[in-house]
Amino acid sequence: MDAKVLSSGIRYSNLPQSYVRPESERPRLSEVSECEDVPIIDLGSSDRSQIVQQVGDACKFYGFFQVINHGVALEAVKRMEEVAYEFFKLPVEEKMKLYSDDPSKTMRLSTSFNVKKETVHNWRDYLRLHCYPLDKYVQEWPSNPSSFKETVSNYCKEVRALGMRIQGLISESLGLQKEYINNVLGEQGQHMAVNYYPPCPQPELTYGLPGHTDPNALTILLQDLHVSGLQVFKDGKWLAVKPHPNAFVINIGDQLQALSNGIYKSVWHRAIVNTEKPRLSVASFLCPCDSALISPAKPLTEDENGAVYRGFTYAEYYKTFWSRDLVKEHCLELFKNK
Ligand code: OGA
Ligand code: NI
Repeated sequence: MDAKVLSSGIRYSNLPQSYVRPESERPRLSEVSECEDVPIIDLGSSDRSQIVQQVGDACKFYGFFQVINHGVALEAVKRMEEVAYEFFKLPVEEKMKLYSDDPSKTMRLSTSFNVKKETVHNWRDYLRLHCYPLDKYVQEWPSNPSSFKETVSNYCKEVRALGMRIQGLISESLGLQKEYINNVLGEQGQHMAVNYYPPCPQPELTYGLPGHTDPNALTILLQDLHVSGLQVFKDGKWLAVKPHPNAFVINIGDQLQALSNGIYKSVWHRAIVNTEKPRLSVASFLCPCDSALISPAKPLTEDENGAVYRGFTYAEYYKTFWSRDLVKEHCLELFKNK
């Protein structure tokens, strides 16, 4: 391939061989149905105990849900989407100045998932940013488009506040103090992946992102309203999550699965691609601070199973996560108590 990234303006008529999954690993799109009942939780409701109940049920039975009336200004969301599209429309030479395949970089444009480790590539480009503390990282962000820094900073602040609020609700739904999760996670980091999935000549043969769980605590996903692609694994089947207007998709990451002693699941999800239209998604990840000690909350370990996971630091977990290929067993399996 000529360009390292996919968003180079080249339209492929065939899928390059390095993206073709072996037969047994393909998405089998004709077998996927739409998930009719993804929980939609109205955070604008005045009945807090009902919200807590809904969050708890969603986390237990789905591992993901959508939120509406979430408090993030719709204008901030719209501007975020616009600037993300503008970024990926820049000339490839301009974007390549930011390219790196080193996952330890705090700002980079990259492609696929982990180019150096994986055997088959994914039909995705992504811009990855660290977003907290903002004044530490914002200088290294793209300065083209010129509104990028301001627009994305503003979006990040709003989304962070939403994430904290949701972690409060999740704590309460587990019968813990509202601040329990936020206290354990320490001074939380925040990362962003702006994902761009160009039209793909043969979506049946590849992925935008293959099935994975998110290694962090909580993910707040803004997905393209007009082009779907997110699928989640539920009850042994892949289901398509239909985009809902003005909603975010929230999913539990591996850290909250560990902290909840496995009561809440960090579900497998994936992004598939299509032949027609590019798709954009913006994933915001709340991450424990590196030194945060993650272990199942005491009150949740008092049945015969005890603590399912051993304690670990987030730094240890993160290193393990990035040292693997994406399509393997759940990374948390490696942290189970024997
Ligand atoms: C991710 C992710 C899904 C999507 O970035 O971790 O799962 O729809 N993205 O892009
Ligand atoms: Ni994900």
